[in-house]
Formats: sequence, C-alpha cells, structure tokens
Amino acid sequence: MCGIVGYVGPRPSQDILISGLARLEYRGYDSAGIAIIDGDGSLGMRKRAGKLSALRDELSSSPIADGTTGIGHTRWATHGGPTDANAHPHLADDDKLAVIHNGIVENYSALKDELLAEGYDFRSETDTEVAAVLLGHEYRSNGGDLVEAFRATVNRLEGAFTLLAVHKDHPGLVVGARRNSPLVIGIGEGENFLASDVAAFVEHTRHALAIGQDEIVAITPSGVEVTDFQGNAVEVEPFEVTWDASAAEKGGWSSFMAKEVSEEPEAVANTLRGRIRDGAVAIPELDGLDDLFRGVQRIIVIAAGTAAYAGMVGKYALEQWARVPVDVELAHEFHYRDPVIGPDTLVVSISQSGETMDTLMAVKFARERGAKTLSICNTQGATIPRESDAIVYTHAGPEVAVASTKAFVAQITALYLLALHIGAVRGELSPTEVAHQLLELEAVPEKIQHILDHEQERIEQFAHWMADTRSVLFLGRHAGYPIALEGALKLKEISYIHAEGFAAGELKHGPIALIEPGQPVFVIVPSPREAPVLHSKVVSNIREIHARGARVIAIAEEGDAAVLPISDEVLRIPLADPLFGPILAVVPLHIFAMGLATAKGLDVDQPRNLAKSVTVE
Ligand code: F6R
Repeated sequence: MCGIVGYVGPRPSQDILISGLARLEYRGYDSAGIAIIDGDGSLGMRKRAGKLSALRDELSSSPIADGTTGIGHTRWATHGGPTDANAHPHLADDDKLAVIHNGIVENYSALKDELLAEGYDFRSETDTEVAAVLLGHEYRSNGGDLVEAFRATVNRLEGAFTLLAVHKDHPGLVVGARRNSPLVIGIGEGENFLASDVAAFVEHTRHALAIGQDEIVAITPSGVEVTDFQGNAVEVEPFEVTWDASAAEKGGWSSFMAKEVSEEPEAVANTLRGRIRDGAVAIPELDGLDDLFRGVQRIIVIAAGTAAYAGMVGKYALEQWARVPVDVELAHEFHYRDPVIGPDTLVVSISQSGETMDTLMAVKFARERGAKTLSICNTQGATIPRESDAIVYTHAGPEVAVASTKAFVAQITALYLLALHIGAVRGELSPTEVAHQLLELEAVPEKIQHILDHEQERIEQFAHWMADTRSVLFLGRHAGYPIALEGALKLKEISYIHAEGFAAGELKHGPIALIEPGQPVFVIVPSPREAPVLHSKVVSNIREIHARGARVIAIAEEGDAAVLPISDEVLRIPLADPLFGPILAVVPLHIFAMGLATAKGLDVDQPRNLAKSVTVE
C-alpha cells in the first residue's frame, strides 16, 4: 500500500517520478503527489486526490520547475480520507522539507500533541505530517544535518513505515528509512533511485540493493550510504532484477489483468523451469534442508486472500505426497492467537508481493516461537523472503493488476514442487511416482493454454450476458473447494457482485437455502475417470441445486457427459488428475470475473478500495 519513488541524478526528475508512480499505482490509487528541488534550490510540490491522471492534469495546468532531485508518492489512504490535503508529500520546516510515507505511525497521536505544544501547526489529518513536522523540528534543532535529523526522527516512530525526505537546502540528496515496509535501491550510472518496488526504476536500471529492517539510506548521484538506526554502517545485499521493463507494461492488452491471465501458462512453466532434473525436483534453494524435511512433524501454511487459497490447494498435495499434517491459516488469525508451534514445525508463507504485513508479522512471530520458516514469494528483494529461513521464488513475473491471477497458479506450482520434494526426501514417494507427478505438472501450461485458446471467448460472452447478475455462488470439493473460494473472491473484488464459495458437501448444511430459481452456481466438477467417487458426489450436489431451479455452470473435464442433463452451461477443461484439475478449473473463473467486470464497465486493474500490496495490518 502506497507506492514510493525517489530520484537523484543528472536528469530532470519529473518524468522519472511520474513514470515510476505509474508502475507503482497498483499499490494505491487514492491520491498522488511529487516534490522536486529545482536548479535554483527551491522546492516545488504538487499533489492531488484521485488517480495519477489527476496529478498529471494538475502538473500540466500548473507546472512546477523541474529539477534533478525528487520524490513521488501514490497513496492508499489509512489515516485521513483521500483528499488533496491528506495526499503526500507533506511539507514542514517552512515548506523547505518534503516527506512521503508508506505504512502507519502508531504513536502519531502522542507525537502530534507534543509538537502542538511546541507551537507547530498541521494542515492534514495524516500520521505522515506528524513525521514530517518532527523531522523539521529535529533538523532545526541539530543545525541542519538532514541525515541525523532523519535518524533522530525514525527512532521516535512506532509502527511500520518507509519514509523518504528531501530538503531544499540539500539538492542532490534523498534520505529514506524502512521498518517493516518495503524499500529498494536502484543503482544507475551517475544516478540512483529509491522505491517501494523495483518496477518503479527497472526501465532505468536492473542493478538493485535490498535494504534491511530498521535501516536508513542516503542517496546522491554518485553514491549510496546505508546505516542502521544507530548510525552504524551496514552491508547491503545486491541483486539483479531478472525481468525487464516490458514485462511490467500492458503491451497491446486491454488491461493488466487480461495480460496476466494470458500469462498463466508461462507463470507455471517459468516456476518449473530449471527445477526438474532427471525426473526429480531440483531446487537449489532447498539444498541443506533435507534433515528439516525428514524431521518435520507439522506444516502450517500462512497467507492472506488468494495466496491462502493457493495454500489450501497445496495442503491436499502436501498431505497426499509428503504425508505431513498441514494446517492452512490466514496469517492475521494465526498471529494473534497462541498457536502450538516449535522447532519441528515448518511454517510456509505464501505471498505474491512478499510485503503483506499480516503475513510478514506472522512469519516473524513463527520464528520467534522457534519454528522454521520457508517463503514462497514472487517478488525479489521483498521483506518476507528476507525474514524467512528459506525461499522458493515463483517466477510469474511482475503482477500489476490488483486481483491476483498468474501468481496464484505459480504459487500452487511451487507448492506442488515442494510437496513432491518433501515426499521424496521422507521416502513417502518412489522416484517413479515423483517422476510421474512431475510429468503431470509439466503438462499444466499447455492445458491452461488450451483453455485460453478454446474457451476464453465463450466465457467472456457468457460473462457479458450475466452482467446484471446480483449474486453468484461457487461450489467445489477436495482441492476444488479452494478454487470455489478463489472464484468467489475474484468476482466480488473486481465486479462488486455478491459472491460466495462453499465446499459442495456443506451445501445441505445451510447454504442450499440460498438456492432459488435462476440463482447462478458455478460447480467445479472433479474428473470422472481419476476421481469417480468425488465426481459422483459432486454430480449429486448438482442434482440437488438443479432440482431447486439453480442455473448451473459446470466446469468439467472434456468428455464428462454426466453433467450435461443437469447443467445450463458446461465449461470444459482438459483431462487431469484430481490434484491438477483445480489449477485448470481456476482459469475459466479468472476469465469469467474479468469478463463480467469488463461488461459492467469497471476498472478491472484497480478495483475500488483495494491495493495490491497490503503493507498495513
Ligand atoms: C486477491 C488478491 C489478494 C492477495 C492478498 C495477499 O485477488 O490479490 O487477496 O492475494 O492480499 O497478497 P500477497 O500474495 O501479495 O501476500
């Protein structure tokens, strides 16, 4: 939540900041603003409520003098509504100092009282302005050392934050700090960048440095200095961004979501690439963990939203192949109870962004309690992998649309690789069985592509007809159950329609009361060949709702004739084993949600009230 970018170098910074913000807009789009120090050493600032386009309009009707040092911000409101006044940057020190912030300053109220008592005024309702005014106060008190004033300030803040600041008396310097919120450094030639995400600067440089917790960074055109909150120099970890700027662009697609759904086959293929050797899983990041995998008594998967549904799918594979008991917990629930965990518990976190605060806090908590932690993450240099004992990256490429699609199939793929690996290490699976399952996994990209090639148009047409629908239900069993939850989440988040997912077997325990004539119900139907018992149970569930007038949309394997007389629509997926069918069944649901939101004229990439990276608890 909230996207941050900073630039120092020889080039005019306004376009660099605005294009960086455009790439970070997925992190929040309630308001946007920039502050720039121009060649004459004056500080110009513009900010506007609304999407980045509102700031662009403001800059064209009321330009600011461009300069080569600047900061920019795109906001997801926490303290104070999305108004011009609450937009960032916030100014202090007689408007000579500008500050932007991502996160929440938890002790802002006490600090504000203190600063009010000192005679300072405030122009917004935000916690950020409190940090800005405090920084201005420290700066004045220490006689004008910006980095030291910044250090004094961050040491007084509680909560989670990334802060950047520029001061008109220090052209060529941007100061930043992070605690539990993301910040990465981009290293250019004679220029440097700071940003919440490498996407903001990848068109200028792919050389990056990851900053650790509680660290302060000062960038100038020629250098980068990183220190801890006490002022000691710290080593930073360099990394190369593995994708280029075009991967984070829309290309010819109507939306990022459309592009990302089309990339689902590639997301699975890239997550597998180089990780299968001679019919076995070969993930170098897991080297040295065999003793842990042999001894583990329990796995707890923690995540939020779509990533948690990927975890639920992964539970079926981990239990079936690795024979380890698995619990899947929403990270925010896990953290705030008193879970029984210890050294023989493996906590697997899943996060596309690697920054979700709920998940991060749960990972830290699990480590404090002595559990081993493994992170499945899509974003290099992100915080959660850095806080974990081991990492398996998904290689879905940058996901920009707020609703997660290609990352979901990549997360399941990574979990399946992990499950097969642990199963092999524990001697639960023979090499032949592992090789067989890996062949099934390697066939998934082509099968997803088949759905996109043969069903997408029909599903979009169908979604168009359903544009006025007010409620949609989703049913699934076994690993199809989390897919039903994912189908419902995707639909509600981008089309604002009431949608609920249920375990099909649970229907008769209550939800069947919702069925009335015409109620649309998607049903994920297991394979009749591979899972005949599950299949017959789901067919019985369809009969129960069909008899009560539901409009049944079955997602069923090619050739499954049993669903035809009891379904109004059948969306076909290629033949697959019960554990692989769900990765295919989710694709029509992603297409449907996107199609319906598009038919309603909604912005599928930036749904209301949401942000992609939820960095507040
Ligand atoms: C839904 C969606 C969210 C995220 C959740 C976790 O489409 O995108 O539910 O899955 O906020 O985000 P990450 O994976 O970044 O931790």
